[in-house]
Parts: sequence; structure tokens; C-alpha cells
Amino acid sequence: MNTTLTARTSSPEETIALGVLLGQLLVGGDVVSLVGGLGAGKTTFVKGVAQALGGQGAVRSPTFAFVHHHACNPPLDELLHVDLYRLDQPQEVLGLALDELVDDGTVLVIEWMERAEGLLGEPSVVVEFNAQSEATRLIELSMAAPRLAGLLDALEDGDRHSQRGSQ
Ligand SMILES: Nc1ncnc2c1ncn2[C@@H]1O[C@H](COP(=O)(O)OP(=O)(O)OP(=O)(O)O)[C@@H](O)[C@H]1O
Ligand SMILES: [Mg+2]
Repeated sequence: MNTTLTARTSSPEETIALGVLLGQLLVGGDVVSLVGGLGAGKTTFVKGVAQALGGQGAVRSPTFAFVHHHACNPPLDELLHVDLYRLDQPQEVLGLALDELVDDGTVLVIEWMERAEGLLGEPSVVVEFNAQSEATRLIELSMAAPRLAGLLDALEDGDRHSQRGSQ
């Protein structure tokens, strides 16, 4: 069963930092669904995930391609960054053959996964973004309890470091 943690970020940099913390906990075979409206911060968050995994190449909004491949540090092979916003029909997602691309060496991060209407199965992690103001985002992370505990530890460590840094 998944449990949920809510964080608030006040800048793109803070959202990237949260992405780094999640990225450090991801393992091959993970599927991460990023939920939230246009400009909510999904792609910004992926920049942090890619940073944590040693993903090569800039993270951008996939415009013409649905899938961007980023080679990663071992033991992972690849981060696949998918954006399904431009999917016309849910069935079109089957043409991307994502299940053939995903294995133990791959992390799949998907924006607008809901457009595939369940055709891709269940994600292992869901991250939901809500814009509260121009620069503030409420970010809800849902995943299996042990992993969420790891994320909580990492967040608390980060807080301790930043408090120490500001003294
Ligand atoms: N706290 C914040 N976290 C993330 N992005 C922020 C934050 N504050 C402001 N922003 C800005 O909001 C925008 C988020 O854009 P981003 O491309 O990440 O959104 P998205 O959810 O991927 O949208 P889309 O559905 O169009 O792909 C960026 O311009 C970013 O600079
Ligand atoms: Mg995006």
C-alpha cells in the first residue's frame, strides 16, 4: 500500500532538489507518474531526478518526440522521460511500446500518464503537483511505505544541513 508525503517548494530550484531526493531512491523498473496541470513543475522535477541518476543530456519538455532517452550511471542504463500530453487517443500509447523499453535497467518517468487511461499499468511512485502561487508548489509524493520513510529521512537530513549552513 502506498503512503503519501506532502512537501512545499518555493522555487524551481527547490523542486529540482526534491526531484534529486526521489531520484536517489529510484531503482530499475520503477515507473513514476507525474500529475499536475500545465506549468505545475513536472518537467522541472524531472531535472532533479535526472541529476540524481547521472542522466546525460538536458531534460526538456518532449515536444515532437513522446519519449526522451537519457543514459544513466550504473547500475541503471537509462532514464526514459515521457510526456503524453499530445496523445490524441489513449490507444496511441501502445504504439510507443514502452513495455518493451522498460526493464531492470530503466526508470520511466511519465508526465500526463492519465491520458493513457490505465493502458500502462500501475506506477510505483505518483507525484502530484499543485501550483499555489507563481512560485509555490504543493507536491504530494505517494509510494510504498519503506521508501517513503527513506525520503522523509533524506528531507530531514537536508533540513539539518541547511539549518547548520545558515548558522
Ligand atoms: N516551486 C516551483 N517549482 C517548479 N516550477 C516552478 C516553481 N516556481 C515557479 N516555477 C516555474 O513554473 C514552470 C514549471 O514548468 P514545467 O515545465 O516544469 O511544468 P510542467 O508541469 O512540466 O508543465 P507541462 O504540463 O506543460 O509539461 C517553470 O517555468 C518554472 O520556472
Ligand atoms: Mg512538462
